[in-house]
Amino acid sequence: MLVIGAEGMLGRDLMGILHSSFPKNEVIGWDIDEIDIQEENTTVKKIESLRPQIVIHIAAFTDVDGCELNQGKAFAVNAEGTRHVALASSKCRAKMVYLSTDYVFDGEKREPYLESDPPHPLNVYGHSKLMGEQYVQEQVKDSLVIRTQWLYGPFGKNFVASILQQAREKSTLSIVNDQTGSPTYTADLAKAICELIQFDARGIFHVANSDLCSWYTFGQTILKLSGANRVKVLPMSSKELGRPAARPSYSVLDCQKLKKETGLTMRPWSEALKDYLALIASLPADPMNR
Ligand SMILES: NC(=O)c1ccc[n+]([C@@H]2O[C@H](COP(=O)([O-])OP(=O)(O)OC[C@H]3O[C@@H](n4cnc5c(N)ncnc54)[C@H](OP(=O)(O)O)[C@@H]3O)[C@@H](O)[C@H]2O)c1
Repeated sequence: MLVIGAEGMLGRDLMGILHSSFPKNEVIGWDIDEIDIQEENTTVKKIESLRPQIVIHIAAFTDVDGCELNQGKAFAVNAEGTRHVALASSKCRAKMVYLSTDYVFDGEKREPYLESDPPHPLNVYGHSKLMGEQYVQEQVKDSLVIRTQWLYGPFGKNFVASILQQAREKSTLSIVNDQTGSPTYTADLAKAICELIQFDARGIFHVANSDLCSWYTFGQTILKLSGANRVKVLPMSSKELGRPAARPSYSVLDCQKLKKETGLTMRPWSEALKDYLALIASLPADPMNR
């Protein structure tokens, strides 16, 4: 089993779960230091030489605003890079698992998105990830595409860490209240990915913690649960925030297929958040130094 993107925020949690669920020497993790998926020949040759049975591709250029400003890199990594991994997986006759995003949707539906809903990305990141999905589905016979959203976890920069950091420095925070989704804990997602693999699931699955909220409500809950009650939170619009990439105003993922086909359910985001806050309270302060 080969994980590409093993050193990222999800990757480090996923490697931990895979190592505890499968024999340790059967799970190999690579990241940018071992393989640059932008390079077709070396990517294909290197994967082919390992001959994995399962390739879990979670490497990506994940800076959503950065993708808007550097479109060439976004498509080179998220679309073409994924095509290279898909080509190698197909040559090895490996199963390929690919992580995708709620940002393949435009948010116009205003109801939770089903796996069968037509995608219509609003930003470059979403476009590039959707192209990645299409390459995987076209090229690999046995593929699993997992769309998730609003990730946070102990091993990378994320919204929760940023709110906690800002709460230490400021008395008032402004947070957008016109985007709705489901914050998802990387530890919960990693467990679900592992179970979907053990279940030999195929096709597209939506996987996110249950219940929905805005970033504003999420921020308020983070502050309340972490005891930072003195910090005032003000709602603001996405327009006021003025970030380079447009985001869907509603990108909740319907995870009923996951439950129906595998029996798996995802717990509410507020429960997962409590566990995450308890965990990071016991870790070094800087998520990049863990
Ligand atoms: N974060 C979210 O909220 C979110 C939401 C929905 C879906 N997803 C998807 O979930 C997956 C994991 O996300 P994450 O937040 O854990 O990402 P992450 O922390 O940014 O990790 C991605 C990893 O991929 C590596 N990488 C980047 N370019 C590469 C290349 N050319 N070749 C090889 N490796 C490369 C990165 O290295 P560097 O750090 O050195 O660049 C990083 O270690 C991604 O596929 C992402 O699109 C994430």
